[in-house]
Amino acid sequence: MTRIGRRSEPLPGLMAEAARAALAEAGLERPEAIVVATMNPEEFTGDGNFASHVATHMGFADVPALRIETATSSGAAAFYMGVAQIAAGLRRTVLVVGGEKMTHLPTPRVSEIIGRSIDPYERTYGATMPALAGLVTRVLMTEQGVSARELAQVAVKNHANGARNPFAHFQQAVTLEEVLDSRMVADPLRLMHCCPISDGAAAVVLSAEPAPVRVAGIGHGADTLAVRHRRDLTSFTATRTAAREAYALAGFGPERVDVAEVHDAFAPFELISLEDLGLLPVGKAGRATLDGDTALDGRLPVNPSGGLKARGHPLAATGVAQIVECVWQLTGRATNRQVAGARCALAHSIGGLATNNWVTLLERA
Ligand code: COA
Repeated sequence: MTRIGRRSEPLPGLMAEAARAALAEAGLERPEAIVVATMNPEEFTGDGNFASHVATHMGFADVPALRIETATSSGAAAFYMGVAQIAAGLRRTVLVVGGEKMTHLPTPRVSEIIGRSIDPYERTYGATMPALAGLVTRVLMTEQGVSARELAQVAVKNHANGARNPFAHFQQAVTLEEVLDSRMVADPLRLMHCCPISDGAAAVVLSAEPAPVRVAGIGHGADTLAVRHRRDLTSFTATRTAAREAYALAGFGPERVDVAEVHDAFAPFELISLEDLGLLPVGKAGRATLDGDTALDGRLPVNPSGGLKARGHPLAATGVAQIVECVWQLTGRATNRQVAGARCALAHSIGGLATNNWVTLLERA
């Protein structure tokens, strides 16, 4: 993956940088197919037909390339498509590359572009991603008793991990007080509970041949676009469905997972996800986070990369970046944030407000 953050290079250049690194590491000159993930390149960069655009920029104009989009989980969706092509026997090698370029636009414009993934009716009331996430946070606090300190600790932990990751957008640790005192974004969510607006790209090579890491399971779940039609806001059905599918395919459950990269675009999402994934009992994720169970040296390290909060969230790059971090954790390449002896890693990606979610289980071969 590229370094994530504020980048001056155009998007195809960032995606080519990530793709070149992945191909070099796989020892592959040319993939049989390419799957490209970008969420809103038309709005962010003005360019369309992005699969061909990126493939051509990489010097692979004649390699079949297609683009996948499921809002903020687009990277995970592209990986799923790559796995499907290999599993179906259609291709022997597939390059999956996700990227987004966002920081050159002002925040209100970025917010409006991301907000297009929200139900159009709810948008007429001014709903943005942080606003809906604020709503979810309020319900989590009142119905499940999640405390302000528990929420803040998610950010503290992820910034501590980001401080060890040279690819991260934010490489500075923060204190609980700094999170609790940071400025309000969407009550009760503060700046330090939110992921930043980031540029970056990530890439992975999938192969039908045996490799150091194998895909043990993968699952996809979905839910209503409109948040007002949800039965529950303290759990995401799409994650639960995806997890069930992934565990069933793998033939094992959450007890086998040694390390997880979960979608923490907003701090409460990490707590909800850990419970939906079966990694922690319902109602216990906040306390476990505060107790250090999900820290780098804890019982189940979560988001060793720094997560979306600190590694950053270049939308469609994120799902692929999570997979890259998992692969690095399984192959001992995560340097000073390495989880010792990790054999099984889980990546979890949320699209929009949990409308299209993915769970991927990776194992050291
Ligand atoms: N966490 C920590 N610091 C942040 C930050 C974040 N999420 N976002 C910005 N900052 C920092 C910047 O680095 C900058 O620091 P500096 O002055 O030292 O350079 C400062 O805060 C101001 O940054 P700015 O970009 O002007 O902030 P903003 O108020 O315009 O944007 C948010 C802040 C939270 C509104 C914006 O990052 C956001 O919308 N995030 C969510 C994006 C999103 O919804 N993604 C999809 C989720 S599914």
